[in-house]
Amino acid sequence: MDRMLHGKTILLIISGSIAAYKSLDLIRRLRTCGACVRVILTKGGEQFITPLAVSALSGEKTYHDLFSLTDETEMGHIRLARMADLVVVAPASADLLARMAQGRADDMAAAVLLASTRDILVAPAMNVAMWNHPATQENWQLLLSRGILSIGPESGDMACHESGAGRMAEPEDILATIIDYFSAHQRLAGRRALVTSGPTHEPIDPVRYIGNRSSGKQGHAIATALAALGAETMLVSGPTALADPPGVTTIHVETARQMLATCMDALPRDIAVCAAAVSDWRTKDQAPQKIKKTTLKKTGTFPALKLVENPDILGIIGGPVVANRRNSRPDLVIGFAAETNQLRAQAQAKRQAKGCDWILANDVSQGVFGSPDNHVILIDEHSEEAWPPMTKTQVATRLAGRIADYFAASSKTDTPP
Ligand code: C5P
Repeated sequence: MDRMLHGKTILLIISGSIAAYKSLDLIRRLRTCGACVRVILTKGGEQFITPLAVSALSGEKTYHDLFSLTDETEMGHIRLARMADLVVVAPASADLLARMAQGRADDMAAAVLLASTRDILVAPAMNVAMWNHPATQENWQLLLSRGILSIGPESGDMACHESGAGRMAEPEDILATIIDYFSAHQRLAGRRALVTSGPTHEPIDPVRYIGNRSSGKQGHAIATALAALGAETMLVSGPTALADPPGVTTIHVETARQMLATCMDALPRDIAVCAAAVSDWRTKDQAPQKIKKTTLKKTGTFPALKLVENPDILGIIGGPVVANRRNSRPDLVIGFAAETNQLRAQAQAKRQAKGCDWILANDVSQGVFGSPDNHVILIDEHSEEAWPPMTKTQVATRLAGRIADYFAASSKTDTPP
């Protein structure tokens, strides 16, 4: 189990139950496995263990107050909800289960659980009568039907001197469930991926450039989704307003030529997804000084831009081996084809011309740039698969799943990584 959770962040919510003392052991075990553990302690939880004990073991600040100015300034509750790879509620008291079922946001724990988009593993702990009460059972069934992951409760002697179902699962079993969860989701563990994203800026003079409307949302989402499946992911991004995705090595570039050089240096063995909207042209020579508006008066002509073609990064990565290339072609090369007419035919032709294995065709006549949504067709050599309209994050998750399927199928015949 050594370092098996390296790079993972667990958000542990500890609520009011005597079993809270076991969660201190869980924190210690998670950290031994390399996980970063952030803890929210409810008011009830604080009656059983102290923030000091939690922080001493987690090595992190312990969060508890939704309306604390310092907590919100340092790490807002929404950010806290999003930065975790998995949320674990252990122990989950009857009261917290009820508040989760109702979708309340009346303290830090409940608000974070409501705002989180991650999977939530819940380990209930309470007196046997409280657990068996129809209200608790209905809440529990509702939470299970909404997709929470569960462990326990177990039956046996309890701290309240009664016996029956309601005892929190043991820390070693919760840890094993967490490790299993990550192994099941790490379908691209051991694989390496490169993703390009965003526009490129091709300088005209020191203050102007040729650019385009790409936001980078799709490329960044793909890098995030590949990393979430365990791929060692590098994102080469042109200028965007987006934050670097967590768990992804991000390199910032400006021009197409910088993007190409960075990609060639880092060309991985397994996956390349070219989602960047690379400028097709750059100016032949960048003006060393700002081009003045008075040019017309002085020379009698408008300033003219002489353009030369930029390298086609996807075409080079997907194409035949270039003599001076240090690394060989990635196993799976994927491009995008943004078209406004004859979508499928143009995309299939582009796939072949650029030597990529798959191409995601999208119709950009309907305002895809900057939008959170996308509508794509996945095209390979033999087939076309039209996906329904969905968010760019969903496109990314689905694409990452397809990539994992591809490697799962090919590893049956090839040597595994
Ligand atoms: O030729 P077009 O720009 O339509 O091709 C789009 C695909 O090619 C995208 O996957 C884009 O990332 C990639 N591309 C590239 N380098 C270029 C132009 C496009 O990687 N110079």
